Amino acid sequence: MTTPSISRRTQGLGTENAFEVLAEVNKLKREGKDVVSFCIGQPDFGTPNHIREAAIEAIKAGKSGYTDSAGILEAREAVARYFSRTRGIEVKAQDVVIANGAKPFIGYAIACATDPGIGDEVICPVPGYPIYQSQVVAHGATAVGLPLSEEKKFSFDLDDLRARISPRTRLLILNTPHNPTGGVIGRSDLEEIGALAKKHDFWIYADEVYSQIIYDGKFESIASVEGMYERTILSDGASKSYAMPGWRLGFAANPSLAPHLARWVTNTESCANHMTQHAIIRALDGPHDDTHAMVAEFKRRRDVMVRLLNEMDGVSCQMPAGAFYAYPNMNGALKKLNLRSAEQLRQMLLKEGVAVLADHHFGRREPGEKNHYIRLSYCTSMENIEKGLARMKGVLGAK
Ligand SMILES: Cc1ncc(COP(=O)(O)O)c(C=O)c1O
Repeated sequence: MTTPSISRRTQGLGTENAFEVLAEVNKLKREGKDVVSFCIGQPDFGTPNHIREAAIEAIKAGKSGYTDSAGILEAREAVARYFSRTRGIEVKAQDVVIANGAKPFIGYAIACATDPGIGDEVICPVPGYPIYQSQVVAHGATAVGLPLSEEKKFSFDLDDLRARISPRTRLLILNTPHNPTGGVIGRSDLEEIGALAKKHDFWIYADEVYSQIIYDGKFESIASVEGMYERTILSDGASKSYAMPGWRLGFAANPSLAPHLARWVTNTESCANHMTQHAIIRALDGPHDDTHAMVAEFKRRRDVMVRLLNEMDGVSCQMPAGAFYAYPNMNGALKKLNLRSAEQLRQMLLKEGVAVLADHHFGRREPGEKNHYIRLSYCTSMENIEKGLARMKGVLGAK
């Protein structure tokens, strides 16, 4: 049977390869293989009870209709309070838009900042969340990779950023704390980045979904830098901080773009899940003890994981300051095992019952990149961390 052709845009659409690896792991598990998975990027904690209760109350109260595309006023007010409190700026409810996850705002921000087919450029961190590059390309703009440097604790060199800014730069994507490296961008760098954004007149998409998952130092947002909120699409969500990934709730704020972001919601999702919007009010305003306990447990696991990784031959792992990923440099291990890529190592580890992701899952490797990395999430029990890393040590040997 023949069918009409499928567009090049769709055929070329990128993906989150993590989902493909996950399918591979699940298949092995179904076949009876014991695999310890460090692939998953979601908290292995339940949603706090007071948030669940709020959703149940909303369902019982019949909160099942469409809402304004920007979200119900009470939820936008709660987000405005949260952003104002945590970023130290004045965010108004009318600046806020709510969607089914923070992810949709990546595409909406690119759509608001660029036009298709005219060479508009978006600077994206590499390695980085793969959806940035795939959405840039899907919107007909050009993705310009900004390499992150291990020497800078996985922030980037400001000279590297300067070298990538051109008259066509429309948007810079920042993600702090960062997936996959756990790196955070410090205040002085954010100030310099802000000065560059003003000088060259581009937007910033501040992906801050890990803002509450930080271990060392204080979380800083580019939106807090003097005069930067106006040109920042500030984005955060419920998935990570409140262990709510499947609930699908994210939010973004910007004083002039909010109506445009809301129009994108009208054109795609109509509105965010109504009951979840009620639950997020309780989450943002309510006690944060569960979040703090979860972050304390992540910190404990981080410390153990990084110590065990650094005990292995050919592995060098920085201490991630935030998010829930370790991103060890595997150059020595590759050399020892006579492998050419982190992907080959990933496949070898999977055969030994340890699932990880490889650097190429986080964007096209930059030309000249000599280092090789894997990503391990510590959203799994301490027992699994010890078991999985013992298996990995069996492959790599001790220092
Ligand atoms: C950097 C980054 N941004 C956005 C998202 C998507 O978050 P949400 O579940 O709110 O759509 C993720 C999820 O893994 C992420 O790692």
